[in-house]
Amino acid sequence: MYTKNSMPFERVIESMDIKSRIAAWLAETLPALDAALPAGQIRALLEAPPDPAMGDYAFPCFSLAKQMRKAPPLIAQALCERLHKPELAEARCVGGYVNFHLNRANLAREVIQAVLAAPGSYGSTKQGAGKTVCLDYSSINIAKRFHIGHLSTTMIGHSLRRLYDHLGYQTVSINHLGDWGTQFGKMICAYKRWGSREELEAGGIGTMTALYVRFHEEAANDPGLEAEGRAWFKRIEEGDPEALAIFNWFKELTLRDAARVYELLGVSFDSYAGESFYNDKMDRPVAELRAKGLLRESDGAQVVDLEAYGMPPCLILKQDGATLYATRDVAAALYRKDTYDFDKCLYVVAYHQDLHFRQVFKVIELMGYPWFNALEHVAFGMVSYEGQSLSTRKGHVVYLEEALLRAVEKAGAIIAEKSPGLENPAEAARQIGVGAVVYAALQNNRIKDIDFWWDRALNFDGETAPYVQYTHARCCSLLRKAAADPSGVAGAQPDWEGLTDEEARQALLLLSRFPDVIQEAVARNEPSMVTRHVTLLAQAYNKFYYEHRILDGAPGVASARIKLTEAVRAVIKTGLYLIGIEAPERM
Ligand code: ARG
Repeated sequence: MYTKNSMPFERVIESMDIKSRIAAWLAETLPALDAALPAGQIRALLEAPPDPAMGDYAFPCFSLAKQMRKAPPLIAQALCERLHKPELAEARCVGGYVNFHLNRANLAREVIQAVLAAPGSYGSTKQGAGKTVCLDYSSINIAKRFHIGHLSTTMIGHSLRRLYDHLGYQTVSINHLGDWGTQFGKMICAYKRWGSREELEAGGIGTMTALYVRFHEEAANDPGLEAEGRAWFKRIEEGDPEALAIFNWFKELTLRDAARVYELLGVSFDSYAGESFYNDKMDRPVAELRAKGLLRESDGAQVVDLEAYGMPPCLILKQDGATLYATRDVAAALYRKDTYDFDKCLYVVAYHQDLHFRQVFKVIELMGYPWFNALEHVAFGMVSYEGQSLSTRKGHVVYLEEALLRAVEKAGAIIAEKSPGLENPAEAARQIGVGAVVYAALQNNRIKDIDFWWDRALNFDGETAPYVQYTHARCCSLLRKAAADPSGVAGAQPDWEGLTDEEARQALLLLSRFPDVIQEAVARNEPSMVTRHVTLLAQAYNKFYYEHRILDGAPGVASARIKLTEAVRAVIKTGLYLIGIEAPERM
């Protein structure tokens, strides 16, 4: 980072955020005490004091105790004696800590200028330049309707993609379709016996599902059906034109259905290469595994032994030579590495596939590929719906499209009641309704199970998308008002002393921490950190809004408050964008 002789201190710090400047300042000061610590390390040590009255950043001196052979409180005291920079912060020692109380007017000026210098890209960096991240998410199954159980993978993946994009990575979004397996033979068999083209075209997946259910009902009494289903699957495998045509049509019907959901959610993919895409790419992994002596026969099947790693064997080839889900994932990883040369490949898939991914990643490692540790399973918990687990068997399926449309309808009803004069209410209802469902999926740590409740998701006052969106719309409305104000208050020179109250301070600190939150969210592949942060920001701004009359008072003060409003609006909008939620300007 900063070195003493390279550039004058004040010049270097001009482009840094306040936390980095505090760190640089400490790094500068330490040599006078015959100690040294790189600024980057100091920055990582700086924490937010638990009690806001203790200041804005705290530096714990414990890690210096060994180096300096001194008790931490003495170090803190010695440091404080040398830290004088009232234009930046005041340093006070408390026990083994140096607490920094930021100069609030300076905080306001710097943070707001940093946000407004490039409103849409605050917190963005180029750290990912030249690096590629593959993201495998959504990955729906053919001939099944898109249900709410696929919401988390879709939205966590979509959000991660935007977050990595924000940090300059090249991203590749992949929908690894579940389009291979014996069930497709059964489906063709059922269609041939009881279905019709017209009926299926009209009824889509619903009709397909009904056919599949019928197959299982009838197969209970007619064992011949299973054999017929297997025969059809064999025909798909062998590339029989009739079987393939029907199968591809099933796929088309499924994707047509899914496209409506993706459109509502604003989600898109660079690749739909799913399981069947690897049909003609299986020879290489199998031959390689064999050549490397990794395959072992077990009951006629070929497996990779993983006992030494505490895992059951990974099944590569069935007795009849057919490949499996895991084989396809090994082939897919090799293909993606060849095609995209990724630096990271993320699999946003439910936690219950944990063992599968550990096995696949271990097999790649055993094959000798050093990039095995670039593969990561981004796991998430289960979704239940108003207290009931989602199970197709028990009939508690909630289709995502219906859930989204219902949310849009409910949002529409709320708008009609609360803002009857709104222009384009249908558009706002879509943004709010969809946002409410998406927010529910990205609200908590991804590994936590989600229980979806309507009244919670659409509550305008709780921790919800509508609440955050409403705050954004409130900022927009205030800025429209300010721009139209005949006194020209919006153009006045801001008086940053007008933003030194406690409410402004909270909002400013949240604004200043936003870039760090994005860094953390990417480091942990955890979009919920962004959700939480925009929610806190909305809450802090609303507090500020209620405590202070923004457009009243001296023009300089009003102007500063308007600037804060502008910065909050920009960061809420960016934050919502990063979690895949739109921000209407009026609602
Ligand atoms: N289609 C699978 C499912 O719905 C998820 C596939 C995840 N991706 C992968 N490469 N295995 O459970």
